[in-house]
Amino acid sequence: MVKTNLHGRHWIAPEIEWSDEELWTVIEVAFDLKRQYVAGVKHDQILKGKSLYLLFYNPSTRTRSSMIAGWTQLGGIAYDLDPGKLQLAHGETIYETAAIMSRMCDAIAIRRYVKGQPYGEGNLTMREYAHASHVPILNMECDMWHPMQGIADVMTVIEKFKQIKLRGKKFVFSWAYSPGAWKPVAVPQTDIIMFTRMLEMDVTLAYPKPFDLDPAVIKYTEQLADMYGTKFEITHDIEEAFNDALVVYPKGWCSWELLKKGGYKEDLHEQWKKEHMNELLKWKATPELMDLTKRGSIYMHCLPADIGRADQPVEVVPEVIFNNKWSVTVDQAENRLHGQKGIMAVCCGGRPRGWWE
Ligand code: CP
Repeated sequence: MVKTNLHGRHWIAPEIEWSDEELWTVIEVAFDLKRQYVAGVKHDQILKGKSLYLLFYNPSTRTRSSMIAGWTQLGGIAYDLDPGKLQLAHGETIYETAAIMSRMCDAIAIRRYVKGQPYGEGNLTMREYAHASHVPILNMECDMWHPMQGIADVMTVIEKFKQIKLRGKKFVFSWAYSPGAWKPVAVPQTDIIMFTRMLEMDVTLAYPKPFDLDPAVIKYTEQLADMYGTKFEITHDIEEAFNDALVVYPKGWCSWELLKKGGYKEDLHEQWKKEHMNELLKWKATPELMDLTKRGSIYMHCLPADIGRADQPVEVVPEVIFNNKWSVTVDQAENRLHGQKGIMAVCCGGRPRGWWE
């Protein structure tokens, strides 16, 4: 059932804080807006006259461009505020910043995951903003979750297979070799939950030790799979993972073992990867691995991806990511726009809540 009382809600960790009906409301509104976009129907009355402040503590292409375009298409004005130019840089507190900015705008969207800081710090920052803010805080990726990506990913699979439930079908989130880049565990953690909850797929998580995810997220996904009657499996064998999969999502993330040691330490991470290079080289998306998947399978990646030759330590080879037979990455990236319009319309447009709600 579509919910009509979501105006004013924070979007910080909807994977664990929003109900199924609330998440489906976002997806239904997002598809509605996408159909209007295709047909050239304007919907600029939804956020007319409203302002959005974007705070990117980390780089972004897709999220930045889709947030600005999406808010504008809904009739509002989005401002890309660089935290480095705010008085935050001079030590003004998040509490003051959020309290003051939220008296002037209608939503604050934040991306924050910080190298070298303890796991969870990025998510905690968003909660600090939320504590002082009078308007919704929208998570554009923290060190635990990337829920905007999760909505776009679910929408893409629904569209590609023309089904809203894919029970009994295998979704694989696999680790892949990423040279040097700091990649949070946010996307795999969001998607193993979203694909279990929303699409009711059988989820396989594949990675070489020690690239585990947060044990609390694993436990929660196991409980969800029990509740929905789906499978959730972990394997350390990439070929076994790809075998018979309908959707594969191979992507790098940093080691949980290293995160546990007080945050991401690049030199430790690189040292470990160098020592285990031979066994890690096979962790990349190749045509040979894709041939093990089910007929009609798709390859997903949130982008940017590390692309290179099969003998190089990369996430994917060009023969897979640039091959329309498998790759849906551009459609997936476009759905960032439509998915986020759904989120912004639901949280910031719609029917204001009364004092009794
Ligand atoms: N997938 C994603 O969040 O892309 P950007 O880092 O470019 O925003």
